[in-house]
Amino acid sequence: MESQLEELRSRALSEISSASETKELESVQIRYLGRKGRLTALVRGLGGLPEKDRPRLGRLANAAKRSVEEALRSRRAELAARKGDSPVGEGRFDVTLPGTRPRIGRLHPLTRVLDEIIEIFSSLGFTLEEGPEIESEYYNFDALNIPADHPARDMQDTLYLKNGLLLRTHTSPVQVRVMEKQPPPVRMICAGKVYRADTADASHSPMFHQIEGLMVDRGVSFTDLKGVLNLFATRCFGPRVKTRFRASFFPFTEPSAEVDISCLVCGGRGCRVCGSSGWLEILGAGMVDPEVFKAVGYDHRVYSGYAFGMGIERIAMLRHGINDIRLFFDNDLRFLRQF
Ligand code: DAH
Repeated sequence: MESQLEELRSRALSEISSASETKELESVQIRYLGRKGRLTALVRGLGGLPEKDRPRLGRLANAAKRSVEEALRSRRAELAARKGDSPVGEGRFDVTLPGTRPRIGRLHPLTRVLDEIIEIFSSLGFTLEEGPEIESEYYNFDALNIPADHPARDMQDTLYLKNGLLLRTHTSPVQVRVMEKQPPPVRMICAGKVYRADTADASHSPMFHQIEGLMVDRGVSFTDLKGVLNLFATRCFGPRVKTRFRASFFPFTEPSAEVDISCLVCGGRGCRVCGSSGWLEILGAGMVDPEVFKAVGYDHRVYSGYAFGMGIERIAMLRHGINDIRLFFDNDLRFLRQF
């Protein structure tokens, strides 16, 4: 029995050390240690031996099993390591093949333009504020001096929710929220999504983005507004761009203006893009109406301020010559990869 054990063990070990594939090791394992394996059979046979020999031979049999198992494990590890080292061969890594270039992601064109605009205004000391997209009529309209019968309040323009709430139609309510929260001076911008009940076409989208700006202090004048917006225009569109302030009307500013830049395509001579006018409208602005100051508890005899608001899509479209606003939201990689 003892010599039988020893013979099986040494035969198994030599088969293991000469195996060159893991498959061979598997068959060795089955042949010796499987349910019908030779070592297994021998161990099972121990039951029929005289009782006095059983403990000693039992221990020897277990030791033999363990040494075969151990040899299998270390040979497997050797074979696996060798496979990893080899540069060529079946299922192995060929370092000479050309690689696949990983696709690199990029920021959305709107994010890039937005980041740039934020950078311009923060270099001028404007803080970045946020406000909710779900607003009350008070913040979106009343506090901004937009009366109940104003057409902007119509269901055709505004997306109303339940309980008197609505999706904000502009970022101007954030002005009110910021002024309610802190005393003057204020110098802030705010960026975010706004919503209108518009059908999407080349120049309309039911959701788009705006940037709002507000500066309030003692002695702030329209000249300050012009200075800041002129600086913004040249930083955003290039040093040669000219601006034009046209008188306009917004309920929350008095006086109000719409600001144009000289056409980026024709330089002001007149072309199809600017409708032969030589100018492109980029934003609305004005001096904060005293009614708005009253709503937030600022003393309009002591403080004055200016505000402005612009659509980010419009700025990005002008900058990049994009002629359809829907391209920003289609997620078509052929469009997005160009930025
Ligand atoms: N809220 C206006 C709009 O959505 C844009 C605007 C105009 C904002 C003039 C302002 C402003 O702050 O002073 O059309």
